[in-house]
Amino acid sequence: MKIAFANPGLPTTGIVCVGVLAGRKLTESAKSLDKQLKGAIARAVKVGRFEGNCGQSVSIPAPGGSKLDVVLVVGLGDAKSLDALALQDLGGRIYSAVSMSGSATVSICVDAVRGCKLGAGDMAAEVAFGARLCSYRFDKYRTKEDAKAKPSIRTLTCRGAETAKARRVFASHDMVADGVAFTRDLVSEPANILYPETLAREARKLSKLGVKVEVLNGAQLKKLGMGALLGVAQGSIREPRVVVMQWNGAARKPGKGKDGPVAFIGKGVTFDTGGISIKPAGGMEDMKWDMGGSGVVIGLMKALAGRKAKVNAVGVVGLVENMPGGNAQRPGDIVTSMSGQTIEVLNTDAEGRLVLADVLHYCNERFKPRLMVDLATLTGAIIICLGDEKAGLFSNNDELAKAISSAGDSVAEIVRRMPLGEEYDKMLKSEAADMKNISGGRGAGSITAAQFLQRFVGDTPWAHLDIAGVTWSKKDAPTVPKGGTGFGVRLLDRMVADFYEGK
Ligand code: BES
Ligand code: MN
Ligand code: ZN
Repeated sequence: MKIAFANPGLPTTGIVCVGVLAGRKLTESAKSLDKQLKGAIARAVKVGRFEGNCGQSVSIPAPGGSKLDVVLVVGLGDAKSLDALALQDLGGRIYSAVSMSGSATVSICVDAVRGCKLGAGDMAAEVAFGARLCSYRFDKYRTKEDAKAKPSIRTLTCRGAETAKARRVFASHDMVADGVAFTRDLVSEPANILYPETLAREARKLSKLGVKVEVLNGAQLKKLGMGALLGVAQGSIREPRVVVMQWNGAARKPGKGKDGPVAFIGKGVTFDTGGISIKPAGGMEDMKWDMGGSGVVIGLMKALAGRKAKVNAVGVVGLVENMPGGNAQRPGDIVTSMSGQTIEVLNTDAEGRLVLADVLHYCNERFKPRLMVDLATLTGAIIICLGDEKAGLFSNNDELAKAISSAGDSVAEIVRRMPLGEEYDKMLKSEAADMKNISGGRGAGSITAAQFLQRFVGDTPWAHLDIAGVTWSKKDAPTVPKGGTGFGVRLLDRMVADFYEGK
């Protein structure tokens, strides 16, 4: 779908969308279209239950005396609650309402509204961003789909004042949407197509945007001593990979510690059977998106480079397939991580933490980053805690935790902070090695997993996002169609923009 911005004015063909504020108060565009259509809009908003509330809409097909396909009247609610998120949702709702209509073009009239904090240019950019996020579809394998089941809208035009501003703001949003779409694509790909080698190949594509991409193969990981990651990988015929992505967009080259880059680390289990501690058959197909954390890191790096963020950032993802097999690791095996700490693997299905242990340590040692944020579809237990609405946040640093929470609130990717503590750390004590990879008890599964990771981050400010509940969605939302959500890309892009860019 092409997205365009044009000066204020009413189109004469296609679908036109105009807004009405709470209390059935017509915007300027709605008023002038109403005049052209001899009062059709005023009548339509009076006869039914439409009051102009946010989320409401009413459509007038083929209005008499015009060549328009449909007039879509959308409720804007109260001007003062019309913020960026509300406008993105509105854009998504408009796209959903018209995408399957059969029409090829939709024009959205975006009027400045008194009492709304955003000007017309910003408003148009947010509406367009929401529509773009909503228009995502993963349909590459549907070869027999009927044309009538496919979206018909080819061009979406936002008409309003401040088009230059709208284009400038949208250009940056568009790069974030590219990142989100890339993550959604990666998460949606099945595991016969996307495995460590091919996922690394996808990450390599970021070099076109100026990201420095290195791919480490199995032999190199062995040399580095990544025994924890390699233990997980050894049951699969697919060789593991670690991908290192560097975007240096700040004025100064990255240093170490406080001057170091911001680092993002992702769990990339391209399929998680559980290994020898094998999972039940029902629902196992979901484990194709067990590389969701790495997908977010790759999409995020794409967004940051795409919008030329003034920040030094590194992304490191650990890519493995967790399979049972003749060479698979067994419960009871003891592996030596790159940090030197030994781990008794009591459950081969608690594999994400083993992968992250080595990747976190490697990232910390090599880059001395100012902070590390890891993302992982780490535990089923976080779904028991928070459902599919919020991600779990664990951190050893209050400032970083606040930055993440606040960025999440700004983009409607909500996180909930969870506790860490010595009392939980103790639960990882092993009789045979420095630690075991599961607590063995029934409680606090997400916390003990986070506790395990913390043993590999040293004193570096660190946060862990358990995204098992939010990576895949079973229901459509205005800006997030069901399927891979891309949760985390917008959040961390925003965290960088609000707290670490140009600093
Ligand atoms: N990838 C899973 C966690 C998961 C579950 C993600 C459901 C998305 C949806 C992870 O590797 C796993 O298997 N975790 C185990 C840990 C347990 C063995 C301690 C779990 O949560 O059951
Ligand atoms: Mn697992
Ligand atoms: Zn897993």
